[in-house]
Amino acid sequence: MFRMETIQFTLPQTSIPRVWYNILPDLPKPMAPPLHPGTLKPIGPADLAPLFPMGLILQEVSAEREIEIPEEVRQIYAQWRPSPLIRARRLEKALDTPAHIYYKYEGVSPAGSHKLNTAVAQAWYNKQEGVKYLSTETGAGQWGSALAMACAFLGLECRVFMVRVSYDQKPYRRALIEAFGASVIASPSNQTDSGRAILAAHPDSRGSLGIAISEAVEVAAKDPKTNYALGSVLNHVLLHQTVIGLEAIEQMALAGDEPDVLIGCTGGGSNFAGLVMPFLGRKLKGQCHARVVAVEPTACPSLTKGRFTYDFGDTGHLTPLVKMHTLGSTFIPPGIHAGGLRYHGMAPLVSHVIDLGLAEATTVQQLDAFAAGIQFARAEGIIPAPEANHAVAVAIREALEAKAEGKPRTILFNLSGHGHFDMQSYIDYQAGKLQNYDYPAEEIAMALAGLPAVG
Ligand SMILES: Cc1ncc(COP(=O)(O)O)c(C=O)c1O
Repeated sequence: MFRMETIQFTLPQTSIPRVWYNILPDLPKPMAPPLHPGTLKPIGPADLAPLFPMGLILQEVSAEREIEIPEEVRQIYAQWRPSPLIRARRLEKALDTPAHIYYKYEGVSPAGSHKLNTAVAQAWYNKQEGVKYLSTETGAGQWGSALAMACAFLGLECRVFMVRVSYDQKPYRRALIEAFGASVIASPSNQTDSGRAILAAHPDSRGSLGIAISEAVEVAAKDPKTNYALGSVLNHVLLHQTVIGLEAIEQMALAGDEPDVLIGCTGGGSNFAGLVMPFLGRKLKGQCHARVVAVEPTACPSLTKGRFTYDFGDTGHLTPLVKMHTLGSTFIPPGIHAGGLRYHGMAPLVSHVIDLGLAEATTVQQLDAFAAGIQFARAEGIIPAPEANHAVAVAIREALEAKAEGKPRTILFNLSGHGHFDMQSYIDYQAGKLQNYDYPAEEIAMALAGLPAVG
């Protein structure tokens, strides 16, 4: 008799997490503090106050293991959360692997990715403190559309500096941001000192996240009514993303499986951290044995080829110095289609966790990422965002290894967003127009030579 196999492991809306999980108090060693770029002394909350509301600054340094999610934020989460955990049975069959493959699908959010988890929280804390305007950067446009939607829900105005290469490659993402009521400016722009300086030196600059961050920070620093919102990298952003892993723990229990390996792609590190930190918290208590793998593009290998040291978060050097894996703040990655992975640094928390040996990092070439995305789409029906393809590629790699060994392996990866607004990149891939990029050693050596001298 036909017996239907369960594909989706779903939780009721009442299971939307009530708290975010903060791993900091559970780590064996504290993180290095952010430093003031002038004094090189650790910064305090007051140094960040021109940019962020105090509610978020306190989360940045919190020693609390659990931080309550405000009811209004939870209510907005209910528009799409809990997100499904899906067993990729069709992909397993296509690969003919003994591995069990699961993915947590964050593309069900109305903006199309995990970014909405923090966008809503950030807009909410800003609103509590009377802020009316937010400025931000966006790479692929996922973060910009998430913040634009969160601002529309909470009644804030939003201005988005969009990396030039994505602005040109992704007009529909731009239109979505505008549909949510935000304004979009191609970066580098003539609207800021940082943008003008870049354009003067490189009139054809295709931009980078580092440059767009400088522009958005500058706007917020100069205007007391405007705050800045960052889509990744900072502790509070990673914290908000832990709803992903907290739900996944419950869902894996529903599936009756325990992950052997956890995988996430890493741009600034937030979707990876969101999935893995709650599992790592359990691992530190001996309740989880999973290997944890961060996947970055070969073209922008901050974790695998960068240095773990103090650096600026932006190209214009307006941010504090943070200790992270970095390729140097002047490194401009090639214009690969995974726009959200083109960042010179990595979240200090993710860098720290890798330094502690709690997670490992690997790279995927652009063509391999797209090949994996197509293979995944043909089996599962979902076309992943180019960023998420990096995680898909490593999940497939793991499943094929399990097959070669003839042993089962339970794989869980974060499918951080869908690629419906990225179809031009798939058109270019299918037409053979995309290429692989190898680590440009000379350029990175030059960018690393410009690292700030700290201690
Ligand atoms: C779908 C998707 N995945 C991943 C990323 C990378 O960011 P992070 O490493 O912060 O998750 C982005 C960034 O724009 C994204 O849009």
